[in-house]
Amino acid sequence: MSARLPFPEWMACVQERVEKALARHLPSAEAIPARLHRAMRYSCLNGGKRVRPLLAFASGEICAAPEEKLEIVACALEMIHAYSLVHDDLPCMDNDVLRRGRPTCHVEYGEATALLAGDALQTQAFLLLARESLGDPAVQLEMLRVLAHACGSLGMAGGQAIDLDAVGRALELPELELMHAMKTGALIRAAATLGALCGEGLPDGARQALDRFAKRAGLLFQVVDDILDCTASTATLGKTAGKDSAADKPSCVGLMGLERAREFAGQLREQAIESLASFGERARRLVELTDFIARRRF
Ligand code: IPE
Ligand code: IPE
Ligand code: MG
Ligand code: MG
Ligand code: MG
Repeated sequence: MSARLPFPEWMACVQERVEKALARHLPSAEAIPARLHRAMRYSCLNGGKRVRPLLAFASGEICAAPEEKLEIVACALEMIHAYSLVHDDLPCMDNDVLRRGRPTCHVEYGEATALLAGDALQTQAFLLLARESLGDPAVQLEMLRVLAHACGSLGMAGGQAIDLDAVGRALELPELELMHAMKTGALIRAAATLGALCGEGLPDGARQALDRFAKRAGLLFQVVDDILDCTASTATLGKTAGKDSAADKPSCVGLMGLERAREFAGQLREQAIESLASFGERARRLVELTDFIARRRF
């Protein structure tokens, strides 16, 4: 993808490429059990900003990663993300009926199918990452380890557990940051790492700088999600607005108020971009993506 493309065009290219690749890498809607496969495709295709794939592609640009490899890790990341949303929306979790402007998976297909669709999307992601040829097997194994760690009890699933446990309870900032870093930040961090692992190895210092960036960008992403929950409309978000305060969910706005949450997001944006200084022009897409995450409207 040309480095000279303006950001909106670059983003559209990656999104289109990932959409087509996901359609190929998901089980066909006709394959038995068709209802489960339709639910998986429903939850993954035709929607979503594809921020984690965009991050993988942008990180890949730092180390000249081939796009064919980036496409595979992008699909694996997006399958995990879609699984996390399907489960996040279930009645036993956030009990949401709208996602990406459509009925949530359990509303459309029933709870049992949604549960299984989430399970199967998760394993499909690992199958894809293990099955495709990604070069050095040791690097591929490292990718699997990174993704598994990001999804598990010390990553996304653990963060979701803290989130549920915190309903109706006031959190202090360090606990909220930890929850955000785990439930959302872990997969965003994995996206940056996987993108870089697709390319030439980075020296330790550069790897650490990229990880510092991704930690800040991950926290920024969820702080902005919390802000949008109470400032954007349901129509714009494609998911029910105002749910966090209505359900007494732990959120950045709940903790510090809207004004300070906005300031916090501004600081995180600056800190994230600062972490990229040593990469110079190679990090241009990551800088642009950080601005997109900070300024997004949905
Ligand atoms: C929503 O993620 C859930 C969070 C982790 C905050 P996104 O805002 O990336 O959702 P889509 O994929 O664009 O729908
Ligand atoms: C979801 O956070 C995080 C994960 C899915 C892991 P939220 O519950 O805030 O996401 P939305 O607002 O429903 O998209
Ligand atoms: Mg949630
Ligand atoms: Mg939710
Ligand atoms: Mg939210």
